Amino acid sequence: KIFAKPLFLGKKVDFLPQCHSTNDELLLLVKNSVVQEGSVIYTDHQLKGRGQRGNVWFDELGKNVLMSILLRPKFLSPTKQFYLNLITGLAIVDVLGEVLEGKVELKWPNDVYVNDRKIAGILIESNLRGTSLESAVIGIGLNVNQSGFNMHGATSLSLESGKHHDRFKLMELVVAQLEKWYLKLKGSNYEVILESYHDLLMWRGELHAFKGVAGTFKGEIVGINQHGNLAINVDGKLQYFGLKEVEFIN
Ligand code: BTN
Repeated sequence: KIFAKPLFLGKKVDFLPQCHSTNDELLLLVKNSVVQEGSVIYTDHQLKGRGQRGNVWFDELGKNVLMSILLRPKFLSPTKQFYLNLITGLAIVDVLGEVLEGKVELKWPNDVYVNDRKIAGILIESNLRGTSLESAVIGIGLNVNQSGFNMHGATSLSLESGKHHDRFKLMELVVAQLEKWYLKLKGSNYEVILESYHDLLMWRGELHAFKGVAGTFKGEIVGINQHGNLAINVDGKLQYFGLKEVEFIN
């Protein structure tokens, strides 16, 4: 099968009935052969699906979108790498938003949430050559037709919409949207990307509890800065936090 629309993302699509992890498969291919930008690998089931922070990403056989897409963002300075996370999140929201009529949000840094439950996750793994981003494997896990979860706080598209969805169609749509956002990034439209991200940022403008390096605190989520750090207003003072410096307390 190939994807219908896109210009270069999804021109080559490989399917594996099952594998350890589509990110691992694509990373290995990139290491050992010449792989074109836009190549996609997807699977029906991962035996060692990987999530953020060393977490395991679980799936039910044949129910979800599990795919990895190869980008070669040589134009992007490594300090702007987090934009890849933003545009991937935006692409997923574009697609889910259509089906669920809004209500889809991005939880910093890049988890996709619907009604306060996680519906999709993103794992990006990149390789540098010198100071240039030689390749980035964009891993996307989107819960589509899964109806049960061991994990608290997870959901799927079918649970939220009450309908069964075509996984291949969804993949195709996400890839097409990713291409659209990727071209904006290539065109240095950073402001548009940041604004769109801010519009979708979960709990923005709300007071929330956090766990920081020095203990717990409360603050208002303001947005992110040009480094992708989370801006929180703590007692009237704006403070910025990197990925490892802050956690949400639910
Ligand atoms: C997260 O939210 O923790 C990120 C989850 C990323 C899961 C996807 S599924 C396809 C790709 N292959 C992996 O092993 N992980 C990503």
